[in-house]
Amino acid sequence: MARLAKWLRLAALIGGAAFVAVPSIPAVAGVDLPKLEKGKGEKCVEETQFMRRNHMDLLKHHRDETMRKGIRTTKHSLKKCVECHASETTGSVAASKEDFCAACHSYAAVKLDCWDCHATKPGKNPLPQMGQGGQVGQTSPLMASTQNGGSK
Ligand code: HEC
Ligand code: HEC
Ligand code: HEC
Repeated sequence: MARLAKWLRLAALIGGAAFVAVPSIPAVAGVDLPKLEKGKGEKCVEETQFMRRNHMDLLKHHRDETMRKGIRTTKHSLKKCVECHASETTGSVAASKEDFCAACHSYAAVKLDCWDCHATKPGKNPLPQMGQGGQVGQTSPLMASTQNGGSK
């Protein structure tokens, strides 16, 4: 966690060179940093540097707005993240520890509850998972269960 935070800060400092520089840092530091699959398309919804450090705030903020005010924009949609960042191998952002969203998080020991309700694969219903009584059915691709949907 601390190491990743340090890495992210360092990456931000290095700025535009980060993509080139990052792989060489762990080699020097002897730290095994997560290897990320590149997202689809030319670029992310915001600057890569910004996304590295602030994606959590974007998502949470967006979620709060969606829930409390009924605002729903698509720019920072979680569904979109999944569409671009799903792995070539598993088709998911969090099925294996190498998948995009899971790679950093397992490294940093961050655990998300998002996937209890939200699909980790584009255009698919999420797998039924523990908690929330998630059910696979004719729900929106985003949602497994609306049962407890408003409570978070
Ligand atoms: C208990 C179920 C539940 C959990 C857990 C949950 N959400 Fe949601 N989320 C919902 C529901 C319900 C909606 C509204 C669905 C809709 O608008 O179609 C939603 C909508 C969203 C949206 C806006 C719609 C979109 O496609 O972007 C975002 C962003 C979002 N959630 C992010 C998160 C993140 C990040 C987490 C984990 C930190 C999370 N959610 C965890 C139920 C959940
Ligand atoms: C249109 C496709 C697309 C969408 C939608 C998208 N991304 Fe990205 N994302 C990318 C690409 C491409 C990169 C790599 C950009 C680069 O090489 O500079 C990237 C980079 C990132 C990074 C930095 C990865 C690293 O190497 O450090 C994070 C974190 C990230 N995205 C999270 C998200 C989140 C969270 C969402 C949803 C809010 C999202 N992305 C939506 C395409 C996308
Ligand atoms: C470049 C590494 C990296 C990538 C890639 C990444 N994350 Fe994160 N994420 C982190 C770190 C580090 C934290 C913890 C930040 C903190 O604790 O301040 C975090 C935290 C979060 C949180 C907040 C968790 C909480 O409980 O507060 C959410 C939500 C989140 N990430 C969603 C995503 C999603 C969705 C993706 C894939 C689209 C993704 N992240 C990809 C590094 C990453």
